[in-house]
Amino acid sequence: MTGLIGRDFLSLADLSPEEVRGLLHLAAEMKAGRVTPQCRKVLGLVFYKASTRTRVSFSVAMFQLGGQAIDLNPSVTQVSRGEPLADTARVLDRYLDAVAVRTFDRADLETFAHYAEIPVINALTDFAHPCQALADLLTVQEQFGRLDGTTLTYVGDGNNVAHSLLLGCAMVGANVRVATPEGFEPKPEIVERAQAIANGRSEVTVTHDPVAAVKDANALYTDVWASMGQESEASDRLPHFQPYQINDDLLAKADREAIVLHCLPAHRGEEITESVLEGSQSRVWDQAENRMHVQKALLASLLGAA
Ligand code: CP
Ligand code: NVA
Repeated sequence: MTGLIGRDFLSLADLSPEEVRGLLHLAAEMKAGRVTPQCRKVLGLVFYKASTRTRVSFSVAMFQLGGQAIDLNPSVTQVSRGEPLADTARVLDRYLDAVAVRTFDRADLETFAHYAEIPVINALTDFAHPCQALADLLTVQEQFGRLDGTTLTYVGDGNNVAHSLLLGCAMVGANVRVATPEGFEPKPEIVERAQAIANGRSEVTVTHDPVAAVKDANALYTDVWASMGQESEASDRLPHFQPYQINDDLLAKADREAIVLHCLPAHRGEEITESVLEGSQSRVWDQAENRMHVQKALLASLLGAA
Protein backbone atom coordinates (compact mmCIF):
# COMPACT_ATOMS: atom_id res chain seq x y z
CA MET A 1 0.00 0.00 0.00
CA THR A 2 3.03 2.29 -0.38
CA GLY A 3 1.07 4.28 -2.99
CA LEU A 4 -0.95 5.87 -0.19
CA ILE A 5 1.99 7.49 1.64
CA GLY A 6 1.34 11.12 2.46
CA ARG A 7 -2.06 11.29 0.79
CA ASP A 8 -5.32 12.68 2.17
CA PHE A 9 -8.37 10.46 2.66
CA LEU A 10 -11.34 12.83 2.38
CA SER A 11 -13.58 10.57 0.30
CA LEU A 12 -13.57 7.00 -0.93
CA ALA A 13 -13.27 8.58 -4.37
CA ASP A 14 -9.72 9.64 -3.35
CA LEU A 15 -8.78 5.97 -3.74
CA SER A 16 -8.88 3.71 -6.75
CA PRO A 17 -10.93 0.49 -6.54
CA GLU A 18 -7.63 -1.43 -6.37
CA GLU A 19 -6.49 0.72 -3.45
CA VAL A 20 -9.79 0.11 -1.61
CA ARG A 21 -9.41 -3.65 -2.11
CA GLY A 22 -5.76 -3.43 -1.04
CA LEU A 23 -6.71 -1.62 2.16
CA LEU A 24 -9.38 -4.19 2.98
CA HIS A 25 -6.88 -6.98 2.38
CA LEU A 26 -4.30 -5.29 4.60
CA ALA A 27 -6.92 -4.72 7.32
CA ALA A 28 -7.88 -8.41 7.23
CA GLU A 29 -4.22 -9.45 7.42
CA MET A 30 -3.58 -7.10 10.33
CA LYS A 31 -6.73 -8.24 12.12
CA ALA A 32 -5.55 -11.85 11.78
CA GLY A 33 -2.13 -10.87 13.15
CA ARG A 34 -0.32 -11.97 10.00
CA VAL A 35 1.07 -8.47 9.39
CA THR A 36 2.07 -6.05 12.14
CA PRO A 37 3.28 -2.73 10.73
CA GLN A 38 4.83 -0.37 13.23
CA CYS A 39 5.32 3.39 13.14
CA ARG A 40 6.29 5.85 15.85
CA LYS A 41 4.05 8.61 14.57
CA VAL A 42 1.50 10.99 16.05
CA LEU A 43 -2.10 11.44 14.90
CA GLY A 44 -4.21 14.45 15.92
CA LEU A 45 -7.97 14.10 16.39
CA VAL A 46 -9.78 17.36 15.62
CA PHE A 47 -13.46 16.59 16.25
CA TYR A 48 -16.15 19.26 16.07
CA LYS A 49 -18.85 16.68 16.84
CA ALA A 50 -19.30 13.93 19.39
CA SER A 51 -17.75 10.54 18.72
CA THR A 52 -17.22 7.27 20.54
CA ARG A 53 -16.20 4.72 17.91
CA THR A 54 -14.15 6.93 15.61
CA ARG A 55 -12.26 8.69 18.38
CA VAL A 56 -11.44 5.55 20.34
CA SER A 57 -10.71 3.30 17.36
CA PHE A 58 -8.26 5.82 15.90
CA SER A 59 -6.58 6.26 19.30
CA VAL A 60 -6.21 2.53 19.88
CA ALA A 61 -5.06 1.98 16.29
CA MET A 62 -2.24 4.51 16.73
CA PHE A 63 -1.21 2.95 20.04
CA GLN A 64 -1.11 -0.52 18.48
CA LEU A 65 1.00 0.81 15.62
CA GLY A 66 3.56 2.05 18.17
CA GLY A 67 2.53 5.68 17.86
CA GLN A 68 0.17 7.96 19.67
CA ALA A 69 -3.02 9.97 19.16
CA ILE A 70 -3.69 13.40 20.65
CA ASP A 71 -7.26 14.49 21.26
CA LEU A 72 -7.53 18.06 19.97
CA ASN A 73 -11.13 18.77 20.82
CA PRO A 74 -11.73 22.30 19.49
CA SER A 75 -13.25 23.32 22.83
CA VAL A 76 -9.84 23.02 24.49
CA THR A 77 -7.79 24.60 21.70
CA GLN A 78 -7.65 28.18 20.44
CA VAL A 79 -10.18 27.17 17.78
CA SER A 80 -12.86 27.86 20.40
CA ARG A 81 -11.51 31.44 20.65
CA GLY A 82 -11.79 31.93 16.92
CA GLU A 83 -8.32 31.01 15.62
CA PRO A 84 -8.94 30.37 11.92
CA LEU A 85 -8.94 26.78 10.71
CA ALA A 86 -6.31 27.66 8.11
CA ASP A 87 -3.92 28.84 10.86
CA THR A 88 -4.67 25.85 13.08
CA ALA A 89 -4.04 23.48 10.17
CA ARG A 90 -0.66 25.04 9.33
CA VAL A 91 0.48 24.87 12.96
CA LEU A 92 -0.69 21.32 13.61
CA ASP A 93 1.01 20.33 10.37
CA ARG A 94 4.36 21.18 12.00
CA TYR A 95 3.79 18.88 15.00
CA LEU A 96 1.72 15.96 13.79
CA ASP A 97 2.23 13.21 11.24
CA ALA A 98 -1.47 12.91 10.32
CA VAL A 99 -4.77 14.34 11.45
CA ALA A 100 -8.31 12.94 11.54
CA VAL A 101 -10.93 15.69 11.29
CA ARG A 102 -14.69 15.50 12.02
CA THR A 103 -16.61 18.59 10.89
CA PHE A 104 -20.13 19.58 9.98
CA ASP A 105 -19.37 21.33 6.68
CA ARG A 106 -17.16 19.40 4.28
CA ALA A 107 -15.68 22.77 3.21
CA ASP A 108 -14.01 22.97 6.65
CA LEU A 109 -12.40 19.58 6.15
CA GLU A 110 -11.24 20.67 2.70
CA THR A 111 -9.80 23.90 4.13
CA PHE A 112 -7.92 21.87 6.69
CA ALA A 113 -6.57 19.57 4.01
CA HIS A 114 -5.59 22.50 1.82
CA TYR A 115 -3.47 24.10 4.53
CA ALA A 116 -1.99 20.95 6.11
CA GLU A 117 0.52 18.96 4.11
CA ILE A 118 0.30 15.90 6.35
CA PRO A 119 -2.36 13.28 5.55
CA VAL A 120 -5.81 14.53 6.51
CA ILE A 121 -8.44 11.85 7.14
CA ASN A 122 -12.19 12.44 6.97
CA ALA A 123 -13.50 11.24 10.35
CA LEU A 124 -17.08 12.21 9.24
CA THR A 125 -18.66 15.28 7.75
CA ASP A 126 -22.31 15.96 7.00
CA PHE A 127 -21.52 14.72 3.50
CA ALA A 128 -19.44 11.58 3.91
CA HIS A 129 -18.14 8.96 6.34
CA PRO A 130 -15.55 7.03 4.35
CA CYS A 131 -13.82 5.31 7.29
CA GLN A 132 -17.18 3.86 8.28
CA ALA A 133 -17.74 2.51 4.78
CA LEU A 134 -14.34 0.77 4.80
CA ALA A 135 -15.32 -1.01 8.02
CA ASP A 136 -18.72 -1.91 6.56
CA LEU A 137 -17.13 -3.45 3.49
CA LEU A 138 -14.69 -5.43 5.62
CA THR A 139 -17.62 -6.77 7.65
CA VAL A 140 -19.51 -7.91 4.53
CA GLN A 141 -16.32 -9.45 3.11
CA GLU A 142 -15.69 -11.38 6.32
CA GLN A 143 -19.24 -12.69 6.35
CA PHE A 144 -19.53 -13.81 2.73
CA GLY A 145 -15.89 -14.26 1.73
CA ARG A 146 -16.35 -11.78 -1.11
CA LEU A 147 -17.81 -8.38 -1.96
CA ASP A 148 -18.18 -8.78 -5.69
CA GLY A 149 -21.79 -9.67 -6.49
CA THR A 150 -23.14 -9.25 -2.97
CA THR A 151 -26.10 -6.91 -2.47
CA LEU A 152 -26.21 -4.30 0.28
CA THR A 153 -29.46 -2.44 0.87
CA TYR A 154 -29.39 0.76 2.89
CA VAL A 155 -32.80 1.82 4.22
CA GLY A 156 -33.28 5.26 5.75
CA ASP A 157 -31.85 8.74 5.34
CA GLY A 158 -29.74 9.48 2.26
CA ASN A 159 -27.02 10.91 4.47
CA ASN A 160 -23.23 10.87 4.91
CA VAL A 161 -23.19 7.13 5.63
CA ALA A 162 -25.36 6.36 2.59
CA HIS A 163 -23.09 8.48 0.40
CA SER A 164 -19.93 6.63 1.37
CA LEU A 165 -21.64 3.24 1.07
CA LEU A 166 -22.79 4.09 -2.46
CA LEU A 167 -19.23 4.87 -3.52
CA GLY A 168 -17.65 2.03 -1.57
CA CYS A 169 -19.99 -0.68 -2.87
CA ALA A 170 -19.65 0.53 -6.44
CA MET A 171 -15.85 0.42 -6.14
CA VAL A 172 -15.75 -3.20 -5.02
CA GLY A 173 -18.42 -4.56 -7.36
CA ALA A 174 -21.13 -4.95 -4.73
CA ASN A 175 -24.70 -4.10 -5.69
CA VAL A 176 -26.03 -1.19 -3.64
CA ARG A 177 -29.64 -0.15 -3.20
CA VAL A 178 -30.70 2.87 -1.18
CA ALA A 179 -34.35 3.20 -0.08
CA THR A 180 -35.33 6.58 1.37
CA PRO A 181 -38.50 8.59 1.88
CA GLU A 182 -39.17 11.23 -0.77
CA GLY A 183 -37.11 14.31 -0.14
CA PHE A 184 -34.38 12.42 1.75
CA GLU A 185 -32.54 10.84 -1.17
CA PRO A 186 -28.74 10.81 -1.40
CA LYS A 187 -27.24 13.72 -3.35
CA PRO A 188 -27.54 13.14 -7.13
CA GLU A 189 -23.82 13.89 -7.62
CA ILE A 190 -22.95 10.91 -5.39
CA VAL A 191 -25.43 8.58 -7.08
CA GLU A 192 -24.11 9.59 -10.50
CA ARG A 193 -20.54 9.10 -9.33
CA ALA A 194 -21.34 5.64 -7.96
CA GLN A 195 -23.12 4.71 -11.19
CA ALA A 196 -20.13 5.88 -13.20
CA ILE A 197 -17.79 3.80 -11.04
CA ALA A 198 -20.02 0.71 -11.32
CA ASN A 199 -20.30 1.33 -15.06
CA GLY A 200 -23.03 -1.28 -15.45
CA ARG A 201 -20.97 -4.03 -13.77
CA SER A 202 -23.01 -3.82 -10.57
CA GLU A 203 -26.32 -2.29 -9.52
CA VAL A 204 -26.60 1.22 -8.04
CA THR A 205 -30.25 1.97 -7.28
CA VAL A 206 -32.12 4.66 -5.36
CA THR A 207 -35.78 3.97 -4.61
CA HIS A 208 -38.61 4.92 -2.27
CA ASP A 209 -39.72 1.29 -1.90
CA PRO A 210 -37.99 -0.42 1.04
CA VAL A 211 -39.66 -3.78 0.43
CA ALA A 212 -38.48 -4.01 -3.17
CA ALA A 213 -35.02 -2.79 -2.13
CA VAL A 214 -34.43 -5.53 0.44
CA LYS A 215 -35.48 -8.43 -1.82
CA ASP A 216 -32.62 -10.99 -1.94
CA ALA A 217 -30.27 -8.52 -0.21
CA ASN A 218 -27.28 -9.99 1.63
CA ALA A 219 -26.88 -7.06 4.01
CA LEU A 220 -29.46 -4.61 5.36
CA TYR A 221 -28.06 -1.36 6.68
CA THR A 222 -29.55 1.62 8.43
CA ASP A 223 -28.52 4.75 10.30
CA VAL A 224 -30.28 7.35 12.44
CA TRP A 225 -33.08 9.34 10.83
CA ALA A 226 -31.68 12.64 12.09
CA SER A 227 -27.91 13.02 12.04
CA MET A 228 -25.75 15.16 14.29
CA GLY A 229 -26.76 18.76 13.70
CA GLN A 230 -30.31 17.78 12.62
CA GLU A 231 -31.66 16.99 16.08
CA SER A 232 -34.23 19.81 15.93
CA GLU A 233 -35.80 18.16 12.84
CA ALA A 234 -36.07 14.73 14.45
CA SER A 235 -39.77 14.80 15.39
CA ASP A 236 -40.82 16.26 12.01
CA ARG A 237 -38.89 13.52 10.24
CA LEU A 238 -40.43 10.61 12.16
CA PRO A 239 -43.65 10.16 10.16
CA HIS A 240 -41.74 10.21 6.85
CA PHE A 241 -39.31 7.57 8.01
CA GLN A 242 -41.57 5.14 9.89
CA PRO A 243 -42.09 2.84 6.83
CA TYR A 244 -38.31 2.63 6.53
CA GLN A 245 -37.67 0.97 9.90
CA ILE A 246 -35.59 -2.21 9.82
CA ASN A 247 -37.77 -4.61 11.79
CA ASP A 248 -38.42 -8.35 11.72
CA ASP A 249 -40.96 -8.02 8.90
CA LEU A 250 -38.59 -6.16 6.60
CA LEU A 251 -35.67 -8.42 7.49
CA ALA A 252 -37.78 -11.48 6.60
CA LYS A 253 -38.05 -10.14 3.05
CA ALA A 254 -34.27 -10.14 2.55
CA ASP A 255 -32.12 -13.18 1.81
CA ARG A 256 -32.46 -15.79 4.58
CA GLU A 257 -28.75 -15.45 5.40
CA ALA A 258 -28.76 -11.66 5.33
CA ILE A 259 -26.80 -9.76 7.94
CA VAL A 260 -27.84 -6.48 9.54
CA LEU A 261 -25.50 -3.53 9.85
CA HIS A 262 -25.74 -0.14 11.58
CA CYS A 263 -22.92 2.35 11.95
CA LEU A 264 -24.10 3.15 15.52
CA PRO A 265 -25.13 4.89 17.66
CA ALA A 266 -28.60 3.40 17.13
CA HIS A 267 -32.01 4.69 18.15
CA ARG A 268 -33.83 1.48 19.05
CA GLY A 269 -37.49 1.64 18.09
CA GLU A 270 -36.83 4.23 15.39
CA GLU A 271 -34.66 3.19 12.44
CA ILE A 272 -34.15 -0.32 13.85
CA THR A 273 -36.00 -2.46 16.35
CA GLU A 274 -34.38 -3.89 19.45
CA SER A 275 -35.11 -7.43 18.23
CA VAL A 276 -33.24 -6.90 14.96
CA LEU A 277 -30.32 -4.99 16.46
CA GLU A 278 -29.83 -7.68 19.11
CA GLY A 279 -30.91 -10.56 16.88
CA SER A 280 -28.84 -13.40 15.42
CA GLN A 281 -28.44 -11.69 12.03
CA SER A 282 -26.98 -8.51 13.50
CA ARG A 283 -23.26 -7.96 12.95
CA VAL A 284 -23.11 -4.46 14.40
CA TRP A 285 -20.51 -5.24 17.06
CA ASP A 286 -18.15 -6.87 14.54
CA GLN A 287 -18.76 -3.86 12.32
CA ALA A 288 -17.83 -1.46 15.13
CA GLU A 289 -14.69 -3.49 15.88
CA ASN A 290 -13.73 -3.34 12.22
CA ARG A 291 -13.52 0.45 12.43
CA MET A 292 -10.26 -0.07 14.27
CA HIS A 293 -8.84 -2.63 11.86
CA VAL A 294 -9.51 -0.63 8.71
CA GLN A 295 -8.29 2.61 10.24
CA LYS A 296 -5.12 0.92 11.47
CA ALA A 297 -4.50 -0.32 7.93
CA LEU A 298 -5.29 3.13 6.54
CA LEU A 299 -2.91 4.84 8.99
CA ALA A 300 -0.15 2.33 8.34
CA SER A 301 -0.54 2.99 4.61
CA LEU A 302 -0.73 6.79 4.78
CA LEU A 303 2.20 6.91 7.22
CA GLY A 304 4.40 4.63 5.15
CA ALA A 305 4.50 1.68 7.54
CA ALA A 306 2.77 -0.81 5.24
N1 CP B 1 -20.11 5.22 13.69
C1 CP B 1 -19.47 6.28 14.19
O1 CP B 1 -18.81 7.05 13.49
O2 CP B 1 -19.57 6.40 15.54
P1 CP B 1 -19.06 7.60 16.41
O3 CP B 1 -19.90 8.81 16.07
O4 CP B 1 -19.26 7.14 17.84
O5 CP B 1 -17.61 7.86 16.12
N1 NVA C 1 -25.36 9.91 10.08
C1 NVA C 1 -24.86 9.92 11.44
C2 NVA C 1 -23.69 9.02 11.58
C3 NVA C 1 -23.10 8.94 12.95
C4 NVA C 1 -21.93 8.03 13.02
C5 NVA C 1 -24.49 11.34 11.81
O1 NVA C 1 -23.86 12.03 11.00
O2 NVA C 1 -24.82 11.77 12.92
